[in-house]
Amino acid sequence: MKTSGSARAAKRRRYLLCPPRHFAVEYAINPWMDPARPVDPATALRQWNELRAVLLDLGHRVELISPVRGLPDMVFTANGATVVDGRVLVARFRHHQRAAEAEAHRRWFVAAGYRPVHTAGPVNEGEGDFLLAGPRILAATGFRTSRAAHREARRLLDRPVVTLTLVDPRFYHLDTALAVLDDDRIMYYPPAFAPASRHLLHLLYPRAILASEADAVAFGLNAVSDGRHVVLPAAARGLAGRLHAEGYVPVPVRMPELLKGGGGPKCCVLELRPARPSAVPVRLTTGTRIRDGTDRAGLRPRQSDRRRSVESSMTEEVRPMHRGNGTMTGRTALVTGSSRGLGLLIAGELADRGCRVMWCGREEPRDVPTQGRRRGQGAVPALSPSPRRPCRRRRRHAGRFEQEA
Ligand code: ARG
Repeated sequence: MKTSGSARAAKRRRYLLCPPRHFAVEYAINPWMDPARPVDPATALRQWNELRAVLLDLGHRVELISPVRGLPDMVFTANGATVVDGRVLVARFRHHQRAAEAEAHRRWFVAAGYRPVHTAGPVNEGEGDFLLAGPRILAATGFRTSRAAHREARRLLDRPVVTLTLVDPRFYHLDTALAVLDDDRIMYYPPAFAPASRHLLHLLYPRAILASEADAVAFGLNAVSDGRHVVLPAAARGLAGRLHAEGYVPVPVRMPELLKGGGGPKCCVLELRPARPSAVPVRLTTGTRIRDGTDRAGLRPRQSDRRRSVESSMTEEVRPMHRGNGTMTGRTALVTGSSRGLGLLIAGELADRGCRVMWCGREEPRDVPTQGRRRGQGAVPALSPSPRRPCRRRRRHAGRFEQEA
């Protein structure tokens, strides 16, 4: 088959898995579960071991959480939490049968040294419904996770959250209807989503791979991607072909015993994303000097003009983050010519994104106009992002700059 994508790069991952030692179908909380149908725990364990071996063979690290007797769905660790930048948001399950899995996960994360570890207030089924896709989190509601949990995730995980609504009960979790292949590529089954969500997905991911119904019911979207290898159920043959054509390497696994619980490979895998390294320098240079943020006639530039002139001075690396409202927490920017004018404005913008900003300029460095307050002199301390209300704060920040200029 022709390969149209460039060579894809795999990123080494760390995953949390739970051996299905107590796996059973004793209740039905999704349409795939039928307690009258027998489940063979030995077969489930063998299939799960194969999945684990595949992940290890691909070079990933696998951590294990001990299964708890009486929690037959605990093998589906994806539902236990969402971990982004080392921050843990532990689940709160919709059904009482699974409720105690949350505490088991919380204990595991605390013992493993993760900080902070928050437990969700509203119903939140972890990575079952929250998928990190590059700078943003795609989050689902409709069957399990509540909308309020999306707002909480945005605040606690400090990433923009895109809300999607699921409408087909067979695809009750986001990870049964959509898979993230790499930072800007996804595959999904459009009919699983409400029309507005489909529209949104189309706008955000015009090059997405769309799954057929046959592949979706084979749980083909319940896939684990490292950016190059995509581990997915062997029965999803159409998707495997599409992935191959796009330069990915499909890695088929067979897990029909676990499908009796309504889960596939992705449901058994929770990604543990480490804290981002701090002080990763962002190269940034200022271009045209505008004396004080006003135009030649001394008028204040409109917000859009200001944004454009700020962007024109940024390197390619920084611009998409600025445009996409991406957070820059943990990064460090050296802004040259930043004691006044455009440089000062750029520094303020970066600080607003949570960036650590270092100044240098011809004059005595002035303060970054942020949060309407003057911050310390000289080398600028870490400036915290505005996870709660970035928009309002940005507006306030811009206004204050106008006054000071
Ligand atoms: N029986 C489990 C439930 O209904 C299956 C969970 C599957 N997990 C997932 N990430 N989709 O909750």
